[in-house]
Amino acid sequence: MNLDPRLYAVEERFCGVKRVIAVSGWKGGVGKSVVSCVLALQLAAKGRKTGLLDLDFTGASDHLVLGAEPAFPKETDGVEPHLLAHGLKFMSSAFFLGGKAVPMRGGEVVDALRELIAITRWGELDYLIVDMPPGIGDATLEFSRLVRKTEFLAVVTPSVLSASLAAKTVALFEEWGITLAGVVENLAPQDGGASSLAPALARVAYDPALESALGSPEALLKTAFAKDLSAAADRLV
Ligand SMILES: Nc1ncnc2c1ncn2[C@@H]1O[C@H](COP(=O)(O)OP(=O)(O)OP(=O)(O)O)[C@@H](O)[C@H]1O
Ligand SMILES: [Mg+2]
Repeated sequence: MNLDPRLYAVEERFCGVKRVIAVSGWKGGVGKSVVSCVLALQLAAKGRKTGLLDLDFTGASDHLVLGAEPAFPKETDGVEPHLLAHGLKFMSSAFFLGGKAVPMRGGEVVDALRELIAITRWGELDYLIVDMPPGIGDATLEFSRLVRKTEFLAVVTPSVLSASLAAKTVALFEEWGITLAGVVENLAPQDGGASSLAPALARVAYDPALESALGSPEALLKTAFAKDLSAAADRLV
């Protein structure tokens, strides 16, 4: 029996959210955060009620990608996500940490995750995009255990290092009955073959202009990166 009262609040916080899509990929640095942010912006720009939750407690970066000032959220029986461009609702641990580096052990990550998802008021959403930290560690296991409707979207690169880890993880998730919403192949060469993992939602090439668009939602939406990724947003709606 679990006596943590926050676990009972979680169910209520997510009852108005139709789809919860955890952007994972299990390897570090493959583009999970930029894919999460741009995909969330694209869904919001299409008029879908969309939220974005940065669950990378020790390496939160979505506030930098989106240029969201790390101001303490408004408290009203829980905390309100920040409202960004196109009505995108955004929550990150960065809003509570004052810009400091955050060393955390596994148990502390689980505790912070429970707290953040128990207090955040998402309201009614069509999509909640969740930017996951790398690996199948505490955050991934705890979040998918607490929010049972979570589907995973895998970001992979053509590198054998990323692809082999993704293939193993997808097989494990299938065994566990976890839904795979799709696969985004990032940093894909123009002429290379598509990822063997299905369902492939988009192939995204290296975009040298992405770096200068970081911090501006409107600039991000106009990048070649966003153009390539739009196939994923189209296929999800
Ligand atoms: N297609 C792309 N074109 C250009 N730059 C890219 C592309 N994909 C990712 N990047 C850049 O690569 C870096 C790593 O991306 P990102 O932080 O999204 O990876 P991540 O998987 O979230 O990393 P972590 O595992 O640390 O959370 C960032 O600087 C990002 O802007
Ligand atoms: Mg990241």
